[in-house]
Amino acid sequence: MFSEKIQIELIKQINRESESSQLYLYMASYVESSGFEGICEFLYDHSNEERMHMLKLIRYINQRGGNVIFNKVCIKNTIYGSIKELFKKLLDHERKISSKINFLVELSLQEKDYFTYNFLQWYIEEQIEEESLIKTILDKIELIGEDKGGLYLLDRDIRKIHNK
Ligand code: FEO
Repeated sequence: MFSEKIQIELIKQINRESESSQLYLYMASYVESSGFEGICEFLYDHSNEERMHMLKLIRYINQRGGNVIFNKVCIKNTIYGSIKELFKKLLDHERKISSKINFLVELSLQEKDYFTYNFLQWYIEEQIEEESLIKTILDKIELIGEDKGGLYLLDRDIRKIHNK
């Protein structure tokens, strides 16, 4: 049984994934002209991943006979003081998404919707990886501090971190 409650919450998650995709896209575009080519590519790639998360949810809801509704996504134009600040914002964002996924898993158990519970296992794995990836990058940025050479090397290597 695909409960109305689960459907409403999964649709909210679709809209969060869409917002995530737009956020990464905005950030990629933001850093594109600042010389951080590696970080820029990382953020563009990640925007596509978030879109893929959104697609997975859309297709699941449709498979279960649900009805997807899209919200208007609006990303605020933001000025980031530094690459470190940008990744701090990303980590906060991913942590927020993790708590929402936890909530969805809990809800699927409460509603005894084991199909959705099973479907969400993939999101848990993915979210653990995402949060830890952004945290790893932020930790490296913290280590580097103000060292421009270090940031240059991080930018060069960031795609390797991404593909690990
Ligand atoms: Fe799809 Fe970064 O959560």
